[in-house]
Amino acid sequence: MAKKIRKAVFPAAGLGTRFLPATKASPKEMLPLVDKPLIQYAVEESVASGISSVLIITGRDKTAIENHFDISFEMESLLKKKGKDDLLDEVRQISNLARISYTRQKEALGLGHAILQAEDYVGDEPFAALLADDVVDAEIPALRQMIDVYERFDAPVIATMQVEGEAISRFGVIDAEEVEPNVYKINDMVEKPPFAEAPSDLAIIGRYIFTPDIFDAIKETKPGAGGEIQITDAMRILMQKRPFYAVKLQGRRHDAGDKLGFLIATVEYALKRDDLGPEFREYLESLSF
Ligand code: G1P
Repeated sequence: MAKKIRKAVFPAAGLGTRFLPATKASPKEMLPLVDKPLIQYAVEESVASGISSVLIITGRDKTAIENHFDISFEMESLLKKKGKDDLLDEVRQISNLARISYTRQKEALGLGHAILQAEDYVGDEPFAALLADDVVDAEIPALRQMIDVYERFDAPVIATMQVEGEAISRFGVIDAEEVEPNVYKINDMVEKPPFAEAPSDLAIIGRYIFTPDIFDAIKETKPGAGGEIQITDAMRILMQKRPFYAVKLQGRRHDAGDKLGFLIATVEYALKRDDLGPEFREYLESLSF
């Protein structure tokens, strides 16, 4: 039987260059979709999928993330004094959401290198890794969809979605065969291939379930695309030793670390809100350019 997944790792040390200047001094993981930072959506997805022990891998200038999940004494006493109980509950609930630990990736050497920083925390257990700028709006949380497959196959699982056209070269891409509806066995994968060399239209989305042997594979991985230690290359090494599966996620995925993707996600999330949606829709419909 597959070992239970109890831990989730959130690489959040990237510099966020795609979103400058907003990310010059603020972490991209703190960009809000409507009123909630990206990292909170991801931690909530993890908790909703049954995992509440969390490691966030941060870097320099990322203290806002730690403060966000901490108790804000001043804010809480102010809200209490003003009788704003709803807001007080909401703010308190964030610090009770999960058991969160932090570690730092001292140098931005790539996603594989970031995940390697979780080795001591994870120990000898399978674990999930989530990239907060991939926001997946789904009825069944994306990570839950993947855990179900992990439990049945007792093997590492990554998330995939179809991406049309040249945009595929912005992703890791898998070569895979469908073994049951929306579940694939992976033959090979490549990080950010030129469009003409992409083995399929199945892109890797930032959700992973790893077994602890990924750490040795990362240690063997040489710098790849962009001169970075890529997790895709580490998975490729490990695939020589054990099967890997992919789940085609059911839901809508947004790249909220990209300016256009962020705008689209913001509009969609705002339109779904009971308190803002109707008025916002009216405003959008009134635009005549
Ligand atoms: C990372 C992964 C890539 C994956 C992507 C999903 O790339 O390296 O394989 O397709 O996340 O968002 P990044 O976007 O961090 O460059």
